[in-house]
Amino acid sequence: MDFENKTVIITGGASGLGFLSGKCFSKEGANIVLVDINKDALDEKVNEIKAAGGKAISVVADVRNYEQVCNVRDTAVKEFSSIDVMINCAGGAEMRMLDAYHYGEFKDVPIDVFDWGIDVNLKGQFYFDHAVLKQMAKQNSGVIINIGSITGEEGCASNVAYSTAKSGVMNGLTKSLALYGAKYNVRVCCVSPGPVLTRPGMAGMNTLLGRAADPQEIVDLIMYLASDKAAFITGINVLADGGRNIMRGKN
Ligand SMILES: NC(=O)c1ccc[n+]([C@@H]2O[C@H](COP(=O)([O-])OP(=O)(O)OC[C@H]3O[C@@H](n4cnc5c(N)ncnc54)[C@H](O)[C@@H]3O)[C@@H](O)[C@H]2O)c1
Repeated sequence: MDFENKTVIITGGASGLGFLSGKCFSKEGANIVLVDINKDALDEKVNEIKAAGGKAISVVADVRNYEQVCNVRDTAVKEFSSIDVMINCAGGAEMRMLDAYHYGEFKDVPIDVFDWGIDVNLKGQFYFDHAVLKQMAKQNSGVIINIGSITGEEGCASNVAYSTAKSGVMNGLTKSLALYGAKYNVRVCCVSPGPVLTRPGMAGMNTLLGRAADPQEIVDLIMYLASDKAAFITGINVLADGGRNIMRGKN
């Protein structure tokens, strides 16, 4: 997969799948624009990519802030002239990310916890897709990879906002923007992982294959869909879940 001189924006780039994507696209020759809210971790990760010989810049942004999102787009274009791939990795389950399990169950959790879950996981991807589509339409080319979750397919009583947001990303957002983007030669796909070992805790989530994914397995799929090898693929959501989706009721 050749990404020589292609520019790839990756949110959630300071950690997990976002950072691994940055390293892997960089190895294939891409210019990397790594985005995160966590400045210290982001700078460290960009330095790591550069130390390995890659071309990378960091832009601190909160995906919930549209002005900051547009600043990422404008900085990427100023620095590298184009935006070829957008990968929306920033996100996470609200109860874990905000350390909110002490509130108890859904009915007792304050609404601002759910606002965060929807804003980061749905609006953040919507904002980035909207901002970069302006540039991609100008170029008449581009690929957007949204990130969903098996939780958006099967529901989750403890992280209701996360599940709701990911469903929206996997269905309405990805399909609508694939329909819209086609006239500008922009493809839009979604990758929805099951458990991934970006944290050891994910090993406890059951799958048909009896294990969680290695992060590289998810990044390989993201790269394939972002590459010209997938030029005929748009508007799809790929569940990369080790078969968990078809075991419901069986475990
Ligand atoms: N790891 C899994 O098992 C798994 C499973 C299904 C889906 N996913 C999805 O994959 C994506 C990446 O997961 P991961 O495990 O690599 O996550 P991670 O927690 O390692 O990284 C998420 C990153 O997003 C950043 N972030 C959080 N809020 C932000 C905001 N408002 N603005 C900008 N950045 C923000 C964090 O600082 C962090 O660096 C997420 O969207 C997640 O929902 C992960």
